[in-house]
Amino acid sequence: MPLILVLAMYASFEVASSSGAYGVEIEAGAFKKTLTASKDAVAMCDERFVSSIQKAGLKTIAIPAEEAAKSLDAIPTYIINLRKLGANRRTPLLAVGGGIVQDVAAFCAAIYMRGLSWTYIPTTLLGMADSCIGGKSSINVGEYKNIVGTFLPPQKILIDPDLAATLSPEQIIAGLCEAAKICFCRGPKEFQAYMKIAPTLTMDERAITEIITTSLLAKKWFIETDEYDRKERLLLNFGHTFGHALEGATHFRVSHGIAVGLGMLCALAFGRRLGRSYEGALLQSVRDMESHIDKLLQQHPTLPKQLAGVEVSEVLDRFAADKKHTSDHFSIVMVNASGAAVLENLSKTDATRAPLGDAIADVLKCYA
Ligand SMILES: NC(=O)c1ccc[n+]([C@@H]2O[C@H](COP(=O)([O-])OP(=O)(O)OC[C@H]3O[C@@H](n4cnc5c(N)ncnc54)[C@H](O)[C@@H]3O)[C@@H](O)[C@H]2O)c1
Repeated sequence: MPLILVLAMYASFEVASSSGAYGVEIEAGAFKKTLTASKDAVAMCDERFVSSIQKAGLKTIAIPAEEAAKSLDAIPTYIINLRKLGANRRTPLLAVGGGIVQDVAAFCAAIYMRGLSWTYIPTTLLGMADSCIGGKSSINVGEYKNIVGTFLPPQKILIDPDLAATLSPEQIIAGLCEAAKICFCRGPKEFQAYMKIAPTLTMDERAITEIITTSLLAKKWFIETDEYDRKERLLLNFGHTFGHALEGATHFRVSHGIAVGLGMLCALAFGRRLGRSYEGALLQSVRDMESHIDKLLQQHPTLPKQLAGVEVSEVLDRFAADKKHTSDHFSIVMVNASGAAVLENLSKTDATRAPLGDAIADVLKCYA
């Protein structure tokens, strides 16, 4: 049984992986403390942290937090910058930013001189509560999102909940959508534990720390059970096939976590269009999850503007082009009659396409 230390504002645990266990520490003030102790490191960081990191004496490579920055075309520039800054195989690499910086830094760490050891300080709630563990990097190629990548977990993850104080409501909602998804996919007990923290847009540091810890401990089970995404971990794609289609169809105006929230609602709407019901006592956590995500998305200040003009047919085309489908089946994470997330393969026929389109329209109607 791994040691998990959870105090009111501090938590620490390890994640097992085939490249060795790595530590996660959640502690207010971790960002400043790490900078002071990492003078030899090269930091790949979100542009907004460049000046504070440089002031602490570290070399920096700035990464714009936009999807175009995590494309394969952008990678050579980061590699050349690492070389120009004198990085070698012993240079500690520090990544500071949200999921975009994480994807770029993790990819560069895996390929630069065949592998650097790296530390990650996530700065968005999505990064803190979800993407920071699991070791995946996902890079876009052309119009294909997250189509190439690597597995190389950081040596250490340092989470500073103080950094969440400057996040916008949209970024908090995005992080909560992913955290809710992970806890829901793990099971009703974990989802109820998440809901008990009363996740809102105005959580104090204690609640944010609890959300992060609850979500990461739920995700830890998936990545330790199925590190390489072959079975159980695939369930964490809940909401992603619809989500990636919505991100693409809005040219990334809708950010990843928000698109996943909308995608989870699309999966439930699709189930209903197929004649499934989510009524009954067994399915209480499905209804709780749906109304929680709806409540969060209703508070998004600019979602209708971001979704304006989106055509169902384009979302459907992008959905159909997703890399996870086979030649004759759509592969989708759905919710079964017991309220569990399950991976289903549905034949690529009009009997599937028509309710898929209807489900996307149902959801767009609520938020566009
Ligand atoms: N590799 C993985 O396991 C994994 C998992 C989930 C998502 N992702 C990827 O993560 C990306 C989305 O990441 P994200 O939502 O964390 O955000 P992001 O990196 O796109 O950043 C979102 C915005 O928040 C700003 N920001 C960052 N930290 C801030 C802070 N402390 N205060 C104020 N603003 C801050 C950024 O500058 C940017 O404007 C997507 O590309 C998605 O595919 C990767």
